[in-house]
Amino acid sequence: MSIEFQNNKFHLFNDTMSYIVEVSRQGDLLHLYFGARVDADDVQPSVKMRGFDCCANDSDAEYSLSALPQEYPSAGASDFRSPAYEIETDNGLHTPELKYKSHEMINGKPPISGLPAVYVENDSEAQTLVITAADEVHGIEVKLYYTVFENFNAICRHSEITNISNPYIYLNNAQSVSLDFPAGAYEYIHLEGAWAREKHIDRNTVHKGTQGFESRRGASGHVENPFLMFFDKGANEEYGNVYGISLIYSGNHRFSMEQEMYETVRVQAGINPFQFRFKLNKGERFVTPEAVMVYSRDGFAKMSNTFHKLYRTRLCRGKWRDKERPILINNWEGTYFDFTKEKLLAIADVASEIGIELFVLDDGWFGKRDNDNCSLGDWYENKEKLGGTLSELAKEMNKRGLKFGLWFEPEMISPDSDLYREHPDWAINVPNVKPHLGRHQLVLDYTRAEVCDYIVERITEILGNANIEYVKWDMNRNMSDVYSLHLDADCQGEFYHRYILGLYDVLDRIITAFPDILFEGCSGGGGRNDPGMLYYMPQNWASDDTDATERLYIQYGGSMVYPASTVGAHISAVPNHQTGRISSLSMRGTVAMNGAFGYELDLTSLGKSELDEMKKQIAFYKNNRHLVMNGAFYRLFNPFTSRHSAWMYVSEDKSKALVYYVVKTARPSNEDVYLKLKGLDENAKYTISGKTQSGRTLMNYGIVINSGEHDGNNMIFEVKRV
Ligand code: DGJ
Repeated sequence: MSIEFQNNKFHLFNDTMSYIVEVSRQGDLLHLYFGARVDADDVQPSVKMRGFDCCANDSDAEYSLSALPQEYPSAGASDFRSPAYEIETDNGLHTPELKYKSHEMINGKPPISGLPAVYVENDSEAQTLVITAADEVHGIEVKLYYTVFENFNAICRHSEITNISNPYIYLNNAQSVSLDFPAGAYEYIHLEGAWAREKHIDRNTVHKGTQGFESRRGASGHVENPFLMFFDKGANEEYGNVYGISLIYSGNHRFSMEQEMYETVRVQAGINPFQFRFKLNKGERFVTPEAVMVYSRDGFAKMSNTFHKLYRTRLCRGKWRDKERPILINNWEGTYFDFTKEKLLAIADVASEIGIELFVLDDGWFGKRDNDNCSLGDWYENKEKLGGTLSELAKEMNKRGLKFGLWFEPEMISPDSDLYREHPDWAINVPNVKPHLGRHQLVLDYTRAEVCDYIVERITEILGNANIEYVKWDMNRNMSDVYSLHLDADCQGEFYHRYILGLYDVLDRIITAFPDILFEGCSGGGGRNDPGMLYYMPQNWASDDTDATERLYIQYGGSMVYPASTVGAHISAVPNHQTGRISSLSMRGTVAMNGAFGYELDLTSLGKSELDEMKKQIAFYKNNRHLVMNGAFYRLFNPFTSRHSAWMYVSEDKSKALVYYVVKTARPSNEDVYLKLKGLDENAKYTISGKTQSGRTLMNYGIVINSGEHDGNNMIFEVKRV
């Protein structure tokens, strides 16, 4: 891996990938190339000028920013495509034009202050290029950061925009990445959804004009995950140039693709400019979140595996990053708010008997919360309901051989809470306007230091007073009525971003104070299932939908970018509480054992045969979780387009694999299914279902399955090299 600067071209490369930026003859930063490895000398931009294009210099009339591919395009200086950033100075200037000033190359990857980012453990893992460009008339300077890795086909980008000489400027847009792709036929996938239906695959053809997706919810959201796959038309799991762009950010985001008149496509990702306006006084700078761009020459699977390994090992942090995650029982779908100490301990008794390792007490243990109408903000244990203190309850769990975990929803405030009665102004709310409620609650104003301090203080006290080894951090509404009493009138446009900075600061303080606790992010399931949260919490409750069939879609979509180690997945009761569907315990297990696995039902209501089956699931998962957490992941059948779903994990040395197969929709007189495995060693022999076969046969001919179909029939194959 290296970064070279020759003949005015920056070439960032490793063995298989190149990214090339040129400092043009007029000092602009041109984007020349991103893709499979090339020789930088041979790559030239097109300089053809066409009708209605503008040029800066009549003596260089072929040269036009209207058509040239750019690295961080400015607004209004003759490039008519989407700008990467927009400013307005105190005297109304708003057409800056950045010119190259200097650059610096750094071994390793510097952290981004206050924001989550990919990191390195050793400077030899990566190199970072910082290009500085400026516009002296508009008084701004922009630093563009690029990191290239030795072992990952990934480039991380972010930018810093500084007001160098104006009394103040407004920054109205600041994208993390802008990429100009050459004219071509492209498609894209994004992960769309809704509450309890997150991360569904939506595949589209890129067409003329601007298209994309975004969140305006104050959170990354259930509706659009901050992730884009942009690829050659026709690409699939193994074929085609694929670019995955993932934004390490938990707030409002926007991903856009603009195919313009010359058929090139400008792809951008960053903070959503919706209601965004950041005031920068002289000398102040704005730092964008980091975007991670992964390139694969060989289709989706390679891209996903790059993201999985990068995020598992260089985004997630802390003690639990590399540790096997405990199998948990969560009481939410088992009891909802209606529990007593006796009930919790009765569930714990069964949990411990069948081999579960962690008991999670969900919502309803604090204030006077027996339903979702009240008490958020009153983070004091309800001793009456708990039959004692949390510390005593934790001890009871520990006596049974279980760790103890606890649910919080720290960003919220119920109008019916002591906290609200004392500090109504701590809620986000427009003065004198009745706020819109979501789940009967309001959002706390995390732009205010005293609010953040209060939350840190309350949580610190609770975590410090009981043996709590796991925390579920929930967030159950999106933001409306956005206004902060703490911000000046001309700074209200900073709110959404400052909220996220406040959240990251709170998370940082808490995880630093409690490094041994395993944290799981949650937002009504997958409402904030984003890489920003994974920096603080190595797992995330993927969806409130625990139905096994629905989870086939949700987990398939999520697997495009997020590793199984980060996916909270539970077996719940039937009929399923979200869909009413009845699926076998075996199917529920085959689906849920693909992540941070657990149960979420009233174990005391189950008979011996179900508990015996669960014991077997638990033993199986304990034996195999290392492979699920760390293996290379391959999608075999796509549940969105097929009657089946299948996927597999392969160990790094290719000596072991686990193959999962589920009949999603049965069909009478069904066809034989040829399940072609992936990622094995062609030349090795493997045992599978008592037979020995070569990797070559397993991958090219496959396993032939005809299981006598019913909905939910499922199989797990263990594959071992002989
Ligand atoms: C939403 C979460 O996604 C559920 O798992 C549960 O924790 C509830 N909130 C509790 O209110």
